[in-house]
Amino acid sequence: MNIAAQTSTASGSTGEHSFFTGGMAALAGLMFGLDIGVISGALGFIGTAFHASDAAKEWIVSSMMFGAALGALAAGVLSFRLGRKVSLILGAILFVIGSLLCAAAWSIESLIAARVILGLAIGIATFTAPLYISEISPPEKRGSMISTYQLMITIGILAAFISDTLFSYIGAWRWMLGIVAVPGVLFLIGVTRLPNSPRWLLMRGKGREAREVLTQLRGNKQRVDAEYKEIEEQLRRPQVGWSLFRANSNFRRSVFLGIALQIIQQLTGINVVMYYAPRIFEAAGFHGHMQLWGTAIVGLVNVLATFIAIGFVDRWGRRPVLLSGFVVMVLGMGILGYVLNLGHLSVGMQIFAVVMLLLFITGFAMSAGPLIWVLCSEVQPTKGRDFGIAASTLTNWVANFVVGLTFLSMLNSWGSGLTFGFYALLNALFFVFTIYFVPETKGVTLEHIEANLMAGKPLRNIGA
Ligand code: BGC
Repeated sequence: MNIAAQTSTASGSTGEHSFFTGGMAALAGLMFGLDIGVISGALGFIGTAFHASDAAKEWIVSSMMFGAALGALAAGVLSFRLGRKVSLILGAILFVIGSLLCAAAWSIESLIAARVILGLAIGIATFTAPLYISEISPPEKRGSMISTYQLMITIGILAAFISDTLFSYIGAWRWMLGIVAVPGVLFLIGVTRLPNSPRWLLMRGKGREAREVLTQLRGNKQRVDAEYKEIEEQLRRPQVGWSLFRANSNFRRSVFLGIALQIIQQLTGINVVMYYAPRIFEAAGFHGHMQLWGTAIVGLVNVLATFIAIGFVDRWGRRPVLLSGFVVMVLGMGILGYVLNLGHLSVGMQIFAVVMLLLFITGFAMSAGPLIWVLCSEVQPTKGRDFGIAASTLTNWVANFVVGLTFLSMLNSWGSGLTFGFYALLNALFFVFTIYFVPETKGVTLEHIEANLMAGKPLRNIGA
């Protein structure tokens, strides 16, 4: 159904509701992105201010992902016990506190601790926000949400890169880290005004309140009744994640596929660029503000190439887009590694190296960026969905943590040629993995995918 048709089936309150859910998705994604992006430009200044070694820098970067993994774990319990809304409020408060503490850090240790708090907030928000949004969005809008979410992540990264670049002229790394509290406050104000999720209310036996919220959201009585019944029916088939995981080998396959896909997404090397881009520009012979402007261009290309995915994923399908993305990434990373290995570069070769870096980013943003999230949400069977998605989301943060923690050490001991060559090789392996294990889920209903999975079909064919 298109947007116009949706609006005509519901009352005016739907407009307000869409505004809020859309705004929420946007802000949660934006916060995710801001925090991924903000550290790259600040790192050099922090290093100078605290005389940080490369190992200390790796911890400063990665402590946030460590916190995010913990936050995502805790969010499963919090959002069940206290509700989605309260979890989001908690996430927003921690977010504001974490950003301000980062800005006020007085030592490497205090900065690491503040980034763990910030990570907790991001883990809670990035687990709970999509869950909440999918529970209160009208069904016909759920699909587009994931792409919007990824787009906002990339916009957040870009915004952080630009803000870092501007603050770099006065060397104000504390402002770089602290300014992120502003969207955090907006998020906090927004979530306090949101209704509770009707699905959660019903889960806790609060039927009357659930109906009230649905009426407020949808207006139209018929729709409210239908959706209320649908939720009741879904709840009659409760989530049985862990016991299903132990009992059913087919479900284990989809959980492991989700986990593998998120490991793959991180081991493409995308966050090596997101966190350490200025350092890569340095290796390519750029200095001073040029490094940060280059990083901002990386952020811009990341946003723009996401539109390629949004445009083609439902036309070409998941597999062709993912496979093409890996080819582009192998070329970008591989050639970049080769060029950097040459040592001193002429101006022409420096520019060529930057083009290769941008090629890699394009490959990621047009494929693995959004698509891994899409696939992870599509391959899990209904009864184990929450468990499966929680497992893959947690993996995303853990893998992200490992990449952030090892890159500078790799660069120092292997040199840039071998390091980037290694990531290029991994991307080549992921191409092969995709051929053998990734299903084509374009235009197939989730029920169909589930039936195939549970019938024991090879993973590659569960969308057939
Ligand atoms: C990934 C992040 C990454 C971002 C880059 C997301 O899909 O999960 O780790 O930083 O894309 O745009």
